[in-house]
Amino acid sequence: MSVITIEQAGSYDGQEVTLQGWLYNLRESGKLLFPIFRDGTGIMQGVCAQKEQPEAFAALRGLTQESSVIVTGKIRAEKRAPGGYEIGVTKLEVVQRVSESDPYPIQLKEHGVDFLLDRRHLWIRTPRQAAILRIRAEAVRAARQFMDGQGYTLTDAPIFTPAACEGTTSLFEVQYIDEEKAYLTQSGQLYVEATAMALGKVYTFGPTFRAEKSKTRRHLTEFWMLEPEAAFADLGDMMELGEGLVSHVVQSVLKNRVRELETLKRDTAKLASVQAPFPRISYDEAIEILQKSGNPAKYGDDFGGDEETILSSQYDRPVIVHRYPAAIKAFYMQPDPLRPDLALGFDMLAPEGYGEIIGGGQRIHDYDLLVRRLKEHNLPEEPFQWYLDLRRYGSVPHAGFGLGLERTVAWICGTEHIREVIPFPRMIYRVYP
Ligand code: 4AD
Ligand code: MG
Repeated sequence: MSVITIEQAGSYDGQEVTLQGWLYNLRESGKLLFPIFRDGTGIMQGVCAQKEQPEAFAALRGLTQESSVIVTGKIRAEKRAPGGYEIGVTKLEVVQRVSESDPYPIQLKEHGVDFLLDRRHLWIRTPRQAAILRIRAEAVRAARQFMDGQGYTLTDAPIFTPAACEGTTSLFEVQYIDEEKAYLTQSGQLYVEATAMALGKVYTFGPTFRAEKSKTRRHLTEFWMLEPEAAFADLGDMMELGEGLVSHVVQSVLKNRVRELETLKRDTAKLASVQAPFPRISYDEAIEILQKSGNPAKYGDDFGGDEETILSSQYDRPVIVHRYPAAIKAFYMQPDPLRPDLALGFDMLAPEGYGEIIGGGQRIHDYDLLVRRLKEHNLPEEPFQWYLDLRRYGSVPHAGFGLGLERTVAWICGTEHIREVIPFPRMIYRVYP
Protein backbone atom coordinates (compact mmCIF):
# COMPACT_ATOMS: atom_id res chain seq x y z
CA MET A 1 0.00 0.00 0.00
CA SER A 2 1.27 3.49 -0.88
CA VAL A 3 2.08 6.02 1.83
CA ILE A 4 1.13 9.32 0.20
CA THR A 5 0.80 12.98 1.10
CA ILE A 6 -2.51 14.82 0.96
CA GLU A 7 -1.13 16.95 -1.84
CA GLN A 8 -0.77 13.80 -3.98
CA ALA A 9 -4.29 12.47 -3.32
CA GLY A 10 -5.55 13.45 -6.78
CA SER A 11 -3.31 10.84 -8.42
CA TYR A 12 -4.72 8.05 -6.21
CA ASP A 13 -8.46 8.36 -6.86
CA GLY A 14 -10.15 5.02 -6.10
CA GLN A 15 -7.07 3.51 -4.46
CA GLU A 16 -6.41 2.50 -0.89
CA VAL A 17 -3.55 4.56 0.60
CA THR A 18 -1.97 5.52 3.90
CA LEU A 19 -1.62 9.08 5.20
CA GLN A 20 0.59 10.18 8.09
CA GLY A 21 -0.38 13.29 9.99
CA TRP A 22 -2.53 14.84 12.65
CA LEU A 23 -6.21 15.09 13.49
CA TYR A 24 -7.15 18.66 12.66
CA ASN A 25 -10.84 18.45 13.52
CA LEU A 26 -13.51 15.84 14.25
CA ARG A 27 -17.26 16.08 13.77
CA GLU A 28 -19.32 13.26 15.25
CA SER A 29 -22.79 12.53 13.96
CA GLY A 30 -24.22 9.41 15.62
CA LYS A 31 -22.79 6.38 13.91
CA LEU A 32 -20.75 8.47 11.46
CA LEU A 33 -17.51 10.32 12.10
CA PHE A 34 -16.17 13.11 9.89
CA PRO A 35 -12.53 13.73 10.74
CA ILE A 36 -10.31 16.27 9.02
CA PHE A 37 -6.68 15.24 8.77
CA ARG A 38 -3.70 17.43 7.99
CA ASP A 39 -0.20 16.35 7.05
CA GLY A 40 1.59 19.60 6.27
CA THR A 41 0.84 19.45 2.56
CA GLY A 42 -2.88 20.08 2.98
CA ILE A 43 -6.03 19.03 4.78
CA MET A 44 -8.31 16.12 3.89
CA GLN A 45 -11.75 15.25 5.05
CA GLY A 46 -12.50 11.66 6.03
CA VAL A 47 -15.56 9.55 6.65
CA CYS A 48 -15.83 6.59 9.02
CA ALA A 49 -19.02 4.54 9.60
CA GLN A 50 -19.38 2.43 12.76
CA LYS A 51 -21.21 -0.33 10.94
CA GLU A 52 -18.57 -0.87 8.25
CA GLN A 53 -15.38 -0.06 10.17
CA PRO A 54 -16.03 -0.76 13.86
CA GLU A 55 -12.34 -0.82 14.84
CA ALA A 56 -11.34 2.39 13.08
CA PHE A 57 -14.55 3.99 14.41
CA ALA A 58 -13.63 3.10 17.98
CA ALA A 59 -10.08 4.42 17.57
CA LEU A 60 -11.29 7.68 16.09
CA ARG A 61 -14.30 8.45 18.29
CA GLY A 62 -13.48 11.09 20.89
CA LEU A 63 -9.96 11.49 19.56
CA THR A 64 -8.47 14.82 20.59
CA GLN A 65 -7.42 17.62 18.24
CA GLU A 66 -3.78 17.39 17.05
CA SER A 67 -3.34 13.76 18.10
CA SER A 68 -0.87 12.22 15.64
CA VAL A 69 -2.25 9.45 13.44
CA ILE A 70 -1.56 7.02 10.63
CA VAL A 71 -4.70 6.64 8.53
CA THR A 72 -5.51 4.06 5.88
CA GLY A 73 -8.46 4.28 3.53
CA LYS A 74 -9.75 4.69 0.02
CA ILE A 75 -9.37 8.04 -1.78
CA ARG A 76 -12.43 9.23 -3.68
CA ALA A 77 -13.32 12.41 -5.53
CA GLU A 78 -15.73 14.61 -3.58
CA LYS A 79 -16.49 18.01 -5.02
CA ARG A 80 -17.61 19.55 -1.74
CA ALA A 81 -14.49 18.46 0.18
CA PRO A 82 -11.56 20.85 0.60
CA GLY A 83 -9.03 19.86 -2.06
CA GLY A 84 -11.65 17.88 -4.02
CA TYR A 85 -10.99 14.45 -2.44
CA GLU A 86 -11.88 12.60 0.75
CA ILE A 87 -10.74 9.39 2.41
CA GLY A 88 -13.00 6.53 3.51
CA VAL A 89 -11.20 5.50 6.69
CA THR A 90 -10.62 1.76 7.10
CA LYS A 91 -7.83 1.79 9.66
CA LEU A 92 -6.60 4.32 12.17
CA GLU A 93 -3.48 4.06 14.29
CA VAL A 94 -2.93 6.69 16.97
CA VAL A 95 0.76 7.57 17.29
CA GLN A 96 0.30 9.93 20.25
CA ARG A 97 -2.99 10.88 21.82
CA VAL A 98 -3.27 14.45 23.09
CA SER A 99 -4.54 14.25 26.66
CA GLU A 100 -8.12 15.39 27.39
CA SER A 101 -6.85 17.09 30.54
CA ASP A 102 -4.28 19.13 28.59
CA PRO A 103 -5.95 19.82 25.25
CA TYR A 104 -4.32 21.50 22.27
CA PRO A 105 -4.41 25.22 23.11
CA ILE A 106 -5.31 26.59 19.67
CA GLN A 107 -8.94 25.87 18.89
CA LEU A 108 -10.68 26.31 15.57
CA LYS A 109 -11.99 29.74 16.52
CA GLU A 110 -10.59 33.23 16.44
CA HIS A 111 -7.76 33.89 18.88
CA GLY A 112 -6.03 37.17 19.67
CA VAL A 113 -2.75 37.70 17.86
CA ASP A 114 -0.66 37.89 21.05
CA PHE A 115 -2.12 34.56 22.18
CA LEU A 116 -1.12 33.07 18.82
CA LEU A 117 2.34 34.67 18.73
CA ASP A 118 3.09 33.22 22.19
CA ARG A 119 2.24 29.84 20.68
CA ARG A 120 3.88 30.41 17.32
CA HIS A 121 5.47 26.92 17.51
CA LEU A 122 1.93 25.49 17.36
CA TRP A 123 0.22 28.23 15.35
CA ILE A 124 2.31 27.31 12.28
CA ARG A 125 0.32 24.05 12.10
CA THR A 126 -2.87 25.78 10.99
CA PRO A 127 -3.50 25.45 7.24
CA ARG A 128 -3.28 29.18 6.66
CA GLN A 129 0.12 29.49 8.33
CA ALA A 130 1.44 26.37 6.62
CA ALA A 131 0.34 27.77 3.25
CA ILE A 132 2.22 31.01 3.93
CA LEU A 133 5.41 29.15 4.83
CA ARG A 134 5.18 27.05 1.69
CA ILE A 135 4.79 30.19 -0.39
CA ARG A 136 7.82 31.68 1.36
CA ALA A 137 9.86 28.61 0.46
CA GLU A 138 8.74 28.85 -3.18
CA ALA A 139 9.68 32.55 -3.26
CA VAL A 140 13.17 31.69 -2.01
CA ARG A 141 13.55 28.83 -4.48
CA ALA A 142 12.43 31.01 -7.39
CA ALA A 143 14.61 33.95 -6.35
CA ARG A 144 17.72 31.80 -6.17
CA GLN A 145 16.84 30.09 -9.44
CA PHE A 146 16.56 33.49 -11.11
CA MET A 147 19.82 34.83 -9.70
CA ASP A 148 21.74 31.67 -10.60
CA GLY A 149 20.23 31.81 -14.09
CA GLN A 150 21.48 35.37 -14.52
CA GLY A 151 25.04 34.22 -13.83
CA TYR A 152 25.24 35.44 -10.23
CA THR A 153 27.30 33.39 -7.75
CA LEU A 154 26.10 32.97 -4.16
CA THR A 155 28.72 34.35 -1.75
CA ASP A 156 27.52 34.47 1.85
CA ALA A 157 28.17 37.58 3.92
CA PRO A 158 29.05 37.37 7.63
CA ILE A 159 26.58 38.08 10.44
CA PHE A 160 29.07 39.45 12.99
CA THR A 161 30.43 42.71 11.60
CA PRO A 162 32.72 45.47 12.86
CA ALA A 163 30.74 48.42 11.46
CA ALA A 164 27.38 49.90 10.48
CA CYS A 165 26.09 49.66 6.93
CA GLU A 166 22.68 51.32 7.21
CA GLY A 167 23.14 54.01 9.86
CA THR A 168 24.07 53.66 13.52
CA THR A 169 20.61 54.07 15.08
CA SER A 170 19.42 50.53 14.36
CA LEU A 171 22.57 48.57 15.26
CA PHE A 172 22.48 45.50 17.50
CA GLU A 173 25.65 45.48 19.52
CA VAL A 174 26.99 42.17 20.78
CA GLN A 175 29.80 41.33 23.14
CA TYR A 176 32.35 39.52 21.01
CA ILE A 177 35.29 37.48 22.41
CA ASP A 178 37.07 39.24 25.32
CA GLU A 179 36.54 42.99 25.28
CA GLU A 180 35.80 43.32 21.62
CA LYS A 181 32.47 44.58 20.37
CA ALA A 182 30.73 43.48 17.21
CA TYR A 183 27.42 44.25 15.54
CA LEU A 184 24.83 41.99 13.93
CA THR A 185 24.80 42.78 10.24
CA GLN A 186 22.20 45.23 8.92
CA SER A 187 22.98 44.25 5.33
CA GLY A 188 25.53 42.07 3.57
CA GLN A 189 26.13 44.78 0.98
CA LEU A 190 29.64 45.89 1.96
CA TYR A 191 30.80 42.26 1.77
CA VAL A 192 29.19 41.48 -1.56
CA GLU A 193 30.89 44.60 -2.91
CA ALA A 194 34.14 42.80 -2.06
CA THR A 195 33.07 39.44 -3.51
CA ALA A 196 31.82 41.22 -6.66
CA MET A 197 35.36 42.53 -7.21
CA ALA A 198 36.52 38.91 -6.85
CA LEU A 199 33.84 37.09 -8.86
CA GLY A 200 32.04 39.71 -10.95
CA LYS A 201 28.34 39.04 -10.32
CA VAL A 202 27.39 37.81 -6.86
CA TYR A 203 24.62 37.75 -4.29
CA THR A 204 24.18 36.99 -0.64
CA PHE A 205 20.98 35.74 0.92
CA GLY A 206 20.67 35.57 4.66
CA PRO A 207 19.31 37.04 7.86
CA THR A 208 19.90 40.72 8.61
CA PHE A 209 19.19 42.64 11.81
CA ARG A 210 17.87 46.07 12.67
CA ALA A 211 17.12 47.32 16.15
CA GLU A 212 13.99 48.94 14.75
CA LYS A 213 12.12 50.91 17.34
CA SER A 214 9.24 51.20 14.89
CA LYS A 215 6.30 48.99 15.74
CA THR A 216 4.70 48.76 12.30
CA ARG A 217 3.28 45.96 10.22
CA ARG A 218 6.32 46.17 7.93
CA HIS A 219 9.17 45.93 10.43
CA LEU A 220 10.95 42.98 11.95
CA THR A 221 14.20 43.13 13.93
CA GLU A 222 15.44 40.01 12.10
CA PHE A 223 14.56 39.59 8.44
CA TRP A 224 16.00 37.95 5.34
CA MET A 225 17.50 39.89 2.49
CA LEU A 226 18.66 38.83 -0.96
CA GLU A 227 21.42 41.17 -2.10
CA PRO A 228 22.90 41.06 -5.60
CA GLU A 229 26.01 43.07 -6.46
CA ALA A 230 27.74 43.37 -9.84
CA ALA A 231 31.03 44.90 -10.98
CA PHE A 232 30.83 47.23 -13.99
CA ALA A 233 27.09 47.70 -13.42
CA ASP A 234 25.05 50.87 -13.00
CA LEU A 235 21.70 52.02 -11.63
CA GLY A 236 19.85 51.04 -14.81
CA ASP A 237 21.23 47.50 -14.73
CA MET A 238 19.99 47.04 -11.17
CA MET A 239 16.51 48.41 -11.84
CA GLU A 240 16.23 45.91 -14.66
CA LEU A 241 17.56 43.03 -12.55
CA GLY A 242 15.18 43.94 -9.71
CA GLU A 243 12.06 43.96 -11.87
CA GLY A 244 13.10 40.68 -13.50
CA LEU A 245 13.66 39.09 -10.10
CA VAL A 246 10.36 40.25 -8.61
CA SER A 247 8.37 39.24 -11.72
CA HIS A 248 9.93 35.79 -11.69
CA VAL A 249 9.24 35.25 -7.98
CA VAL A 250 5.59 36.33 -8.27
CA GLN A 251 4.92 34.31 -11.43
CA SER A 252 6.58 31.21 -9.91
CA VAL A 253 4.39 31.39 -6.81
CA LEU A 254 1.31 31.85 -9.02
CA LYS A 255 2.25 28.78 -11.02
CA ASN A 256 3.55 26.47 -8.29
CA ARG A 257 1.51 27.40 -5.20
CA VAL A 258 -2.04 27.50 -6.54
CA ARG A 259 -3.59 25.64 -3.60
CA GLU A 260 -1.80 27.72 -1.02
CA LEU A 261 -2.95 30.98 -2.63
CA GLU A 262 -6.49 29.53 -2.59
CA THR A 263 -6.16 28.70 1.11
CA LEU A 264 -5.22 32.34 1.68
CA LYS A 265 -8.11 33.53 -0.54
CA ARG A 266 -5.59 35.73 -2.33
CA ASP A 267 -6.90 37.75 -5.27
CA THR A 268 -4.49 36.30 -7.83
CA ALA A 269 -5.63 38.64 -10.64
CA LYS A 270 -3.70 41.35 -8.81
CA LEU A 271 -0.54 39.23 -8.97
CA ALA A 272 -0.97 38.13 -12.59
CA SER A 273 -0.21 41.65 -13.83
CA VAL A 274 3.15 41.71 -12.05
CA GLN A 275 5.35 41.41 -15.14
CA ALA A 276 8.43 43.40 -16.13
CA PRO A 277 8.89 46.18 -17.13
CA PHE A 278 7.70 48.12 -14.09
CA PRO A 279 6.88 51.84 -14.18
CA ARG A 280 9.77 54.11 -13.16
CA ILE A 281 9.48 57.60 -11.72
CA SER A 282 12.08 59.97 -10.36
CA TYR A 283 11.96 61.26 -6.79
CA ASP A 284 11.00 64.68 -8.24
CA GLU A 285 8.02 63.12 -10.01
CA ALA A 286 7.09 61.23 -6.87
CA ILE A 287 6.95 64.47 -4.86
CA GLU A 288 4.71 65.96 -7.53
CA ILE A 289 2.32 62.98 -7.41
CA LEU A 290 2.19 63.17 -3.62
CA GLN A 291 1.48 66.89 -3.56
CA LYS A 292 -1.23 66.56 -6.20
CA SER A 293 -2.92 63.92 -4.06
CA GLY A 294 -2.92 66.28 -1.07
CA ASN A 295 -0.04 64.68 0.85
CA PRO A 296 2.06 67.25 2.80
CA ALA A 297 5.39 65.79 1.53
CA LYS A 298 7.87 68.45 0.45
CA TYR A 299 11.09 68.19 -1.52
CA GLY A 300 13.83 66.61 0.60
CA ASP A 301 11.53 64.45 2.75
CA ASP A 302 12.02 60.71 2.96
CA PHE A 303 8.93 58.62 2.30
CA GLY A 304 7.07 56.75 5.02
CA GLY A 305 4.33 54.16 4.75
CA ASP A 306 1.63 56.72 3.81
CA GLU A 307 3.64 58.19 0.96
CA GLU A 308 4.62 54.76 -0.35
CA THR A 309 0.98 53.68 -0.34
CA ILE A 310 -0.14 56.74 -2.33
CA LEU A 311 2.64 56.27 -4.88
CA SER A 312 2.12 52.54 -5.36
CA SER A 313 -1.67 52.85 -5.62
CA GLN A 314 -1.23 54.56 -9.00
CA TYR A 315 -0.07 51.32 -10.63
CA ASP A 316 -1.07 47.65 -11.07
CA ARG A 317 2.50 46.41 -10.48
CA PRO A 318 5.45 47.57 -8.39
CA VAL A 319 6.80 51.05 -9.10
CA ILE A 320 10.47 52.04 -9.06
CA VAL A 321 11.37 55.43 -7.58
CA HIS A 322 14.89 56.54 -8.46
CA ARG A 323 17.29 59.41 -7.78
CA TYR A 324 16.44 60.44 -4.22
CA PRO A 325 18.23 63.42 -2.64
CA ALA A 326 21.62 62.14 -1.47
CA ALA A 327 21.02 63.77 1.93
CA ILE A 328 18.35 61.20 2.88
CA LYS A 329 20.23 58.14 1.64
CA ALA A 330 23.12 56.01 2.92
CA PHE A 331 26.78 57.10 2.85
CA TYR A 332 27.78 54.75 0.00
CA MET A 333 25.42 56.06 -2.71
CA GLN A 334 27.02 57.31 -5.93
CA PRO A 335 25.96 60.89 -6.81
CA ASP A 336 24.22 61.55 -10.12
CA PRO A 337 26.82 63.26 -12.39
CA LEU A 338 24.09 65.51 -13.85
CA ARG A 339 22.80 66.59 -10.44
CA PRO A 340 25.26 65.70 -7.67
CA ASP A 341 22.68 66.47 -4.97
CA LEU A 342 20.85 63.33 -6.11
CA ALA A 343 21.89 59.74 -5.38
CA LEU A 344 21.91 57.08 -8.09
CA GLY A 345 19.69 54.92 -5.91
CA PHE A 346 16.25 53.39 -6.25
CA ASP A 347 13.49 51.88 -4.18
CA MET A 348 10.88 49.45 -5.46
CA LEU A 349 7.45 49.89 -3.89
CA ALA A 350 5.00 47.00 -3.91
CA PRO A 351 1.33 47.51 -4.82
CA GLU A 352 -1.60 47.33 -2.39
CA GLY A 353 0.18 49.34 0.29
CA TYR A 354 2.97 46.85 1.04
CA GLY A 355 5.65 49.51 0.76
CA GLU A 356 9.33 49.26 -0.08
CA ILE A 357 10.47 45.77 -1.04
CA ILE A 358 13.79 46.71 -2.65
CA GLY A 359 16.38 49.38 -1.89
CA GLY A 360 19.63 49.77 -3.79
CA GLY A 361 21.62 51.55 -6.49
CA GLN A 362 25.09 52.46 -7.63
CA ARG A 363 27.96 52.65 -5.12
CA ILE A 364 30.65 55.29 -4.75
CA HIS A 365 33.76 53.89 -6.42
CA ASP A 366 36.03 56.92 -5.89
CA TYR A 367 38.30 56.67 -2.85
CA ASP A 368 38.36 60.37 -1.88
CA LEU A 369 34.63 60.83 -2.21
CA LEU A 370 33.96 57.76 -0.08
CA VAL A 371 36.28 58.99 2.68
CA ARG A 372 34.50 62.34 2.61
CA ARG A 373 31.08 60.67 2.91
CA LEU A 374 32.18 58.55 5.87
CA LYS A 375 33.18 61.78 7.64
CA GLU A 376 29.93 63.54 6.75
CA HIS A 377 27.99 60.60 8.17
CA ASN A 378 30.13 60.60 11.34
CA LEU A 379 31.29 57.06 10.67
CA PRO A 380 34.73 55.98 11.93
CA GLU A 381 37.26 55.24 9.18
CA GLU A 382 39.10 52.47 11.00
CA PRO A 383 36.54 49.64 10.68
CA PHE A 384 36.00 50.58 7.01
CA GLN A 385 39.66 50.27 5.99
CA TRP A 386 39.04 46.96 4.25
CA TYR A 387 36.07 48.53 2.42
CA LEU A 388 38.25 51.46 1.33
CA ASP A 389 40.75 48.93 -0.05
CA LEU A 390 38.14 48.07 -2.69
CA ARG A 391 38.59 51.68 -3.91
CA ARG A 392 42.39 51.50 -3.67
CA TYR A 393 42.92 48.35 -5.69
CA GLY A 394 41.19 48.28 -9.04
CA SER A 395 38.01 50.17 -8.21
CA VAL A 396 35.22 50.00 -10.81
CA PRO A 397 31.68 51.36 -11.03
CA HIS A 398 29.39 48.81 -9.42
CA ALA A 399 25.85 48.51 -8.19
CA GLY A 400 23.46 46.25 -6.30
CA PHE A 401 20.33 46.13 -4.18
CA GLY A 402 18.60 44.36 -1.31
CA LEU A 403 15.24 42.60 -1.63
CA GLY A 404 13.41 42.20 1.67
CA LEU A 405 12.04 38.65 1.64
CA GLU A 406 9.31 39.11 4.26
CA ARG A 407 7.92 42.32 2.72
CA THR A 408 7.80 40.57 -0.65
CA VAL A 409 6.13 37.42 0.70
CA ALA A 410 3.64 39.43 2.81
CA TRP A 411 2.55 41.23 -0.34
CA ILE A 412 2.30 38.03 -2.40
CA CYS A 413 0.28 36.34 0.37
CA GLY A 414 -1.79 39.44 1.11
CA THR A 415 -1.18 39.15 4.87
CA GLU A 416 -1.99 42.05 7.10
CA HIS A 417 1.34 42.00 8.94
CA ILE A 418 4.78 40.73 7.98
CA ARG A 419 5.11 38.76 11.23
CA GLU A 420 3.06 35.91 9.71
CA VAL A 421 5.47 35.21 6.84
CA ILE A 422 8.55 34.18 8.82
CA PRO A 423 8.47 30.97 10.88
CA PHE A 424 9.52 32.67 14.11
CA PRO A 425 9.18 36.46 13.95
CA ARG A 426 11.53 38.69 15.92
CA MET A 427 10.08 42.09 16.65
CA ILE A 428 10.55 44.88 19.10
CA TYR A 429 9.35 43.30 22.40
CA ARG A 430 9.24 39.74 21.06
CA VAL A 431 11.95 37.06 21.03
CA TYR A 432 9.74 34.18 22.28
CA PRO A 433 9.28 31.36 21.30
O1 4AD B 1 16.59 49.73 1.94
P1 4AD B 1 17.50 48.91 2.80
O2 4AD B 1 17.82 49.44 4.14
O3 4AD B 1 18.79 48.67 1.93
C1 4AD B 1 19.94 48.06 2.33
O4 4AD B 1 20.12 47.51 3.39
C2 4AD B 1 20.99 48.01 1.27
N1 4AD B 1 22.29 47.92 1.92
C3 4AD B 1 20.72 46.81 0.39
C4 4AD B 1 21.71 46.71 -0.75
O5 4AD B 1 21.81 47.61 -1.54
N2 4AD B 1 22.43 45.60 -0.84
O6 4AD B 1 16.87 47.44 2.97
C5 4AD B 1 16.58 46.66 1.85
C6 4AD B 1 15.21 46.03 2.00
C7 4AD B 1 14.06 47.02 2.11
O7 4AD B 1 13.64 47.47 0.84
C8 4AD B 1 13.00 46.19 2.79
O8 4AD B 1 12.34 45.37 1.84
C9 4AD B 1 13.81 45.30 3.69
O9 4AD B 1 15.12 45.27 3.19
N3 4AD B 1 13.81 45.79 5.06
C10 4AD B 1 13.09 45.27 6.08
N4 4AD B 1 12.23 44.24 6.11
C11 4AD B 1 11.67 43.92 7.28
N5 4AD B 1 11.91 44.57 8.44
C12 4AD B 1 12.77 45.62 8.47
N6 4AD B 1 13.04 46.23 9.63
C13 4AD B 1 13.41 46.00 7.23
N7 4AD B 1 14.30 46.96 6.90
C14 4AD B 1 14.54 46.80 5.59
MG1 MG C 1 15.51 51.44 2.01
